[in-house]
Amino acid sequence: MHMLLKRLGSLLVGRKIALRLALATFVLSGTVYAGPDQVTNIFKPLSTPAESVYQAALLTLAVCAVIFLIVGGLLAYTTIRFRRRAADDGLEPPQIYGSNQIELAWTVLPVLIVFVLILVTSRTIADVQNKPAAPDSLKVTVVGHQWWWEIRYPELGIVTANELHVPVTDIAKPRQTFLRLESADVAHSFWVPQLAGKTDLIPNRVNMMWIEPKEVGTYLGNCAEYCGTEHARMLLRVIVHEPDDFARWAGQQAATQQQNGAEDPQVKAGRDVFFSTSCVNCHTISGTSARGRFGPDLTHLMSRDTLASGAAPNTAEKLRAWVRDPQTIKDGSLMPNMQLTEQELDQLVAYLLTLK
Ligand code: CUA
Repeated sequence: MHMLLKRLGSLLVGRKIALRLALATFVLSGTVYAGPDQVTNIFKPLSTPAESVYQAALLTLAVCAVIFLIVGGLLAYTTIRFRRRAADDGLEPPQIYGSNQIELAWTVLPVLIVFVLILVTSRTIADVQNKPAAPDSLKVTVVGHQWWWEIRYPELGIVTANELHVPVTDIAKPRQTFLRLESADVAHSFWVPQLAGKTDLIPNRVNMMWIEPKEVGTYLGNCAEYCGTEHARMLLRVIVHEPDDFARWAGQQAATQQQNGAEDPQVKAGRDVFFSTSCVNCHTISGTSARGRFGPDLTHLMSRDTLASGAAPNTAEKLRAWVRDPQTIKDGSLMPNMQLTEQELDQLVAYLLTLK
């Protein structure tokens, strides 16, 4: 309901764009559209906080269903039982006003029901929110930008974007990932339905949330707070690995963090294009003079599956189209068209392809 209201609000405010986002993320029978060929499901939680939210939601749904059946049943019964008949005398039946018992019943019962729901909900919220971070938990900082996610692993020395890699938890040895949520511009909201509820990323404020994925795989999510033109294409991926695989991924990312300064003569022309244009003002490639923070860190660009926060698959062809004119893939994107020649584009893409 909250979600629907939020969507409705965005619709009124953001008109056409919001309509697009509403269609793109509309909750329909429990499934959320999250990408071209995949759907995620709020009724299939695979992480502790998502399970807590799911159970509280099920209880609320069950209580509402019982109330609906009673009210709907009485209404149907009365409508049929006391319908107009041919033998009616056309007079109104006796009118009855005031009944202390009935009025008390329909006041006290709903109050009790609401009270129970409040207790269950507050307990669920407290359980999720007050969980202390275990010393061995993974710590990640996520910064929301218009319209992409900056992802930093301060303890591992890794910076990436849009695709969050985490280890799977184990019953014998639980391991959570704690996310520190910040925003570089406007309010965003981190939402991967199968992993946890939504938490907003608010400028000048730090919010925390945690996830504890129980199955290996790719989980889809999206920004859940209207944040401007490309809100609907601010998609998220959480890639959950076996602990060994995660360690390998982290090791490899941390290692390349040092290597990209190495000069590969094959792609010198492309590198020159990159460093002679304003690309360097917005992007970081570690080990080089490119230190921009406005756009995503490109150090491991080619280790990511998607481009532009999930707007397109990360292939050489799409990458070229993206650099040529970002607006063709994501209109409203804050990355400008650099007006490169076809030859410069080929050279630049060849260089970018080496960033693994
Ligand atoms: Cu970021 Cu909506």
